[in-house]
Amino acid sequence: MRVLVTGGAGFIGGGIVERLAARGDRVVVLDSLTAHEKAPDLPDPVELIVGDLNDEDAVRNATEGVDAVCHQAARVGLGVDFDDVTGYVADNDLGTATLLRALWRRSFAGRLVVASSMVVYGEGRYRCPEHGDVRAEPRRRADLDAGRFDPRCPHCGTALAWATVTEEAPLDPRNVYAATKVHTEHLAFLYGRESGARVCALRYHNVYGPRMPRDTPYAGVASIFRSALESGGVPRVFEDGAQTRDFVHVHDVARANVLALDSDWTGACNVASGEPHTVGDMARALAAAFPGAPEPVVTGEYRLGDVRHVVASPDLAAAAIGFRAETAFADGMRAFASDPLR
Ligand code: UD1
Repeated sequence: MRVLVTGGAGFIGGGIVERLAARGDRVVVLDSLTAHEKAPDLPDPVELIVGDLNDEDAVRNATEGVDAVCHQAARVGLGVDFDDVTGYVADNDLGTATLLRALWRRSFAGRLVVASSMVVYGEGRYRCPEHGDVRAEPRRRADLDAGRFDPRCPHCGTALAWATVTEEAPLDPRNVYAATKVHTEHLAFLYGRESGARVCALRYHNVYGPRMPRDTPYAGVASIFRSALESGGVPRVFEDGAQTRDFVHVHDVARANVLALDSDWTGACNVASGEPHTVGDMARALAAAFPGAPEPVVTGEYRLGDVRHVVASPDLAAAAIGFRAETAFADGMRAFASDPLR
C-alpha cells in the first residue's frame, strides 16, 4: 500500500511512519519541517517531500498514486492569542482544503484518516445531581478569579461532576484551534461523500511521549511540565490541579492510526487511554520519576480558553477500529520523565 502521511516528520506522524514502513508499506511524507531544526531521521525507504500543505506543487507530487492518506499536518496547541487566527486557518483549514482538492483532482477514493482532537467537544460532559446531563456554559472570569473552577449547573448553580464524553456529543469549539479541527473533520467527511472515499477522524486526547515538542505556546501541558523539570524548574499546575484529562501515549496514538488505515469504518472516534487523571496527578507522577525534581506547585492561575474536564469514552474506537490503549499512565509517565523531547 502506498500511503501519504502529512506531517509525517512530526511527533505523532513520525510514529505512524515508523509503523507503516516497518510492515512494508510504501510511505510518502509531506512535511514543511518548520517544527524542526534539522531534517528528521526517517526510516528507509520513506520518500520525503518538503513542503507546506498550501504548496500546491508539493501536494500534487505527494498525492500521486497513493492508496491511502493519513493527514496529521496541522498547527496545534492553544497559540498565543486571537492574533494567531489567520495562521491557524491558513495551515489547518486552507491546508486541508488544498490537500483534499489535490486528492479530488486525482479521483482519490481510497482510505482517508484525519487527525482531529478532543477540543472539538469544548467542555466535556457534565452531570448535575439534580438536573442530570447539562451543558456547561463557557467559564466566566469572575468565577475563575474567585477560584470557582468547576462549571455550574445553568439551572441551580450546583458545581457539576464530569462524565465520559462519547462521540455523539455536540461539537462546541472554544478556541481557534478547536474551530479549525471541527472544520477539518467536516471538510474531510464532505470529501468522502462526494468522492466515495472512506473517511475516519481520530479525536486525540492529550498525547504525550518520546519526541514530544518542547515547551512553546503551542505545546501541551505534559511537554510544559517535562521541559520545566529538565531546566531545573518546577511544574506550575494551574487552577487547583483537579482539572481532568485523558493522557494517551504517542505509541498508542500511532497504533490507532494504523488500525484506522486498515479498517473501513467511517466516522469520528476518540483516541484515549480510558484512564483519566487530573493535571495535578500528572505533574506529581512526572516529578516523582524525575531525579531530584521539586514538588509541583499549584498556582491558582488560569487561562480563559482552557476547558475544565474532558474525559473520553474509549468504547467506540474499540468497537469501530479495534483500538484499545496499551500504555498504562504510571508506566508512560515514568518513561516520559527521561524520554527525549524534540
Ligand atoms: C491539549 C492540546 C490540544 C490538543 C488536546 C488533545 C495544547 C495547548 N493543547 O489540550 O491542542 O488538541 O490536548 O490532545 O497543546 N496547565 C497547567 N500548567 C501549565 C499549562 C497548562 O496546569 O503550565 C493546565 C491547563 O490549565 C489545562 C491543562 O493543563 O487545564 C491542559 O492544558 P493543555 O495541555 O495546554 O490543553 P488541553 O486543553 O488539554
